Amino acid sequence: MSKAIYPGSFDPVTFGHLDIIGRSAKIVDELVVGVLVNSTKQPMFTIEERVEMLKHLTKDYSNVEIISFDGLLVDFAREEKADIIVRGLRAVTDFEYELQMAQTNHIMEKCVDTIFLTTSLKYSYLSSSIVKEVAWLHGDISQFVPAFVIDKIQEKIS
Ligand code: PNS
Repeated sequence: MSKAIYPGSFDPVTFGHLDIIGRSAKIVDELVVGVLVNSTKQPMFTIEERVEMLKHLTKDYSNVEIISFDGLLVDFAREEKADIIVRGLRAVTDFEYELQMAQTNHIMEKCVDTIFLTTSLKYSYLSSSIVKEVAWLHGDISQFVPAFVIDKIQEKIS
């Protein structure tokens, strides 16, 4: 039985994240979306809000669970008895940081390996930061995030 963690800040969750969730949920038996509590970045959404949005948007997947975590990702993976970490790769610019994380995590926890899914071409430009910037400047974000998330962003910026 394979169990994987898809970790991230998800501030907020985008169509790019949902694409990775849907595709990895088909590959592994169980997928835990791990939402990082304490990012170095100042989040737009609280941890409860980020978890709630993800729960709502993944409710149709029977093998996906949304859990927040703090501290080291490998400790969370150990607690969850997951031996796979899933990360999305958008462009070559992501690679250096992702490689460093994957190797560090593997050195800290030998049982954990990282697999990378290349982001679907239509979302390869997308990031939560870009979504927030466009939203703050009153741009149209309907191609980047679901309507449910747009409403939550509007509540924050109005
Ligand atoms: O969505 P993000 O911000 O790109 O996700 C980054 C994340 C959450 C995967 C990364 O910051 C992380 O794993 N943080 C937990 C702390 C940790 O384990 N750091 C060492 C990684 S080498």
